[in-house]
Parts: sequence; structure tokens; C-alpha cells
Amino acid sequence: MEPTVGILGLGYLGSTLARLVPWSPQSWGTCRPSSYPAILSQQPLPVVPFDWTQASSWEALPTQSAILILTIPPIRDLEANRNHLRQWSAWMREHRPACSRLLYVSTTGIYPKRAGVWTEDTGEEPDSLSGELRKQTEDLLGEVFDLQVVRPGGIYGPKRNLWQRLRNGQAMPTSPHQPTHRIHVEDLARLIHLLILKPELPSCINAVDHQPLPSLRVAQWCAKQRPTALQLENHGLLAEPETDLPFLERKISNQRLQSTGLLLRYPTYQEGYHSLLDEPLNQLRA
Ligand SMILES: NC(=O)c1ccc[n+]([C@@H]2O[C@H](COP(=O)([O-])OP(=O)(O)OC[C@H]3O[C@@H](n4cnc5c(N)ncnc54)[C@H](OP(=O)(O)O)[C@@H]3O)[C@@H](O)[C@H]2O)c1
Repeated sequence: MEPTVGILGLGYLGSTLARLVPWSPQSWGTCRPSSYPAILSQQPLPVVPFDWTQASSWEALPTQSAILILTIPPIRDLEANRNHLRQWSAWMREHRPACSRLLYVSTTGIYPKRAGVWTEDTGEEPDSLSGELRKQTEDLLGEVFDLQVVRPGGIYGPKRNLWQRLRNGQAMPTSPHQPTHRIHVEDLARLIHLLILKPELPSCINAVDHQPLPSLRVAQWCAKQRPTALQLENHGLLAEPETDLPFLERKISNQRLQSTGLLLRYPTYQEGYHSLLDEPLNQLRA
């Protein structure tokens, strides 16, 4: 039987993970009280209304043993985030001692935005607030929980991807010429599943596919496969030559990911976006 999990945050990744395998029937996930009960019909797991920043809602977390997967992002202030993590971790240790194992979904944004090859052993400090918040979160959770960390690049997949944006007439992301590290949401969920089953695997793993590439190049590739699907606003993409502008040589290593033996279903953007070229268009978010 699959293990018991508690997924903190049934967002894009959390929902994909919830659907990945038939988790044990004691498993659960959380959503913010404002999304409850509307979310219930979309989820295969029992859903607990929970606001991470409201101590009064922590009691809602089930008491039985579960492996926690934390997908909720940090509070965007270093001191507030530190205080919050200390308070929540101490509460969990006292009131939910059976949930001592936690897998934290961090980000490759923890690595400096400078040229270089960045591995999980890189000791350099982050150079952005979001990176610092992630590092702080990893460190503080590691003091209390039996911790595994996954650091994904940009997460994409069904209903949330660059090709959806462009077909909806939305603009390209900023810095489209810089190489982006990405991972398909299904492969990320499969990696997390593997780490849950094998706690002996390395406790920190970068989750990026085998081909970092500027978003512009990915967009051009998609546009060439389906030239008639583009909104007028983005037709310029088709005309733009596929020249390689000079870009930052920043490479995030996925050697450790490869050493786990996990074979990515979407090893590069081509496999990933090929599966997304013809998906129905989302309603735009308000
Ligand atoms: N998307 C990317 O490209 C990317 C890349 C690297 C790392 N990450 C990180 O990986 C994690 C998972 O990504 P994702 O794309 O699945 O993010 P997501 O869809 O935004 O999911 C995050 C979940 O956390 C919930 N949440 C946020 N604040 C909360 C709070 N105070 N209390 C309770 N729940 C709260 C959100 O609820 P609501 O929906 O109600 O806000 C949502 O369900 C996130 O930490 C994200 O920052 C994302």
C-alpha cells in the first residue's frame, strides 16, 4: 500500500501529487479556508481547511502519523517568516509528534543569479529576498523535522504553461532571453513520490530537466509547431530569428536527480510542450 501523506497546500503541485497514486486512505491535504468547500469536488483526498499563518487553524491538522509535504511558500519577510516557522514547528513537535517527517518544496531560486554551475552542495548565500526566505525555511525546518528538500525550477504542465499564456494573448515572461530551468509538474510529483518511498536518497535534490533554455526559444518552438494558434499580439515571435543572444551561463545541476534512477517522462521542454500544444485553453485568471 502507498504511504500516508499530508499535503500542506493543494495548489498546482499539491493537487497533481494527490492524484499521482492511490495514497493510503488516511492521507489528507489542506486548502485555505476561503477555498473550502468548493475545492472538495476536485480532490481525491480528504481536504482540511487550514491557514498556515493562523495558529487557530492548526488544530484542524489530523493527529495520526503522516509524511508531510509542504508546498506553501514562505511569508515574504525574513523576521516574520523566522518567527512563524519557529512557532509552527514547536507546535507541531508538541501537538503532532507523529508527523515528524517532512518534505519541503523549495526552489532553485535559492542559488545566486550569477554565472556558474550550482549544485545542492553549493555553500553560497542566496542573492535575493525570495532565495533568502527559502534558505531560512529549509534551515529552520531542518532543525525540527526529519527533512527532505526538493528544489524545483519553473513548474509547468497542463493548464499552467507558457503556451497557454501565449495563446491567451498574454505577454512573454520577463527576461525571456535568459535560460530557464524547468520541470514538468508530473515529473516533480513522481520525484517527490520516490523520495517519500526512499528516505535513504539524498536529503536535498534539484528538480530540473535536462535542457535549460530561454523562454523565448521554447515559445518559438511551440509557435512553429502550431503557427495558427497564436494570438495576434504574439505573432512577432514567429518572425523573430532564433539567434542566440549572449546569456548568463548559469547552470543548475541535475546530476543528483539523475543518480536517483528516476527517468523523467518529460526530459526536455520538447517532450513536455509536445504534450501541451493542443490542450484546451484555460479561462484567464481574474
Ligand atoms: N510555480 C513555479 O514555477 C515554482 C517554481 C519553484 C518553486 N515553486 C514553489 O513550489 C511550491 C509549489 O508550487 P505550486 O506551483 O504548486 O504553487 P501553488 O499552486 O501556488 O500552491 C501553493 C499552495 O499553498 C497554498 N497557500 C499559500 N499560502 C497559504 C497559507 N497561508 N495557508 C495555507 N495555504 C496556503 C495555496 O493556496 P491558495 O491557492 O489559496 O493561495 C496553494 O494551494 C510553492 O512553494 C512554490 O512557491 C514554484
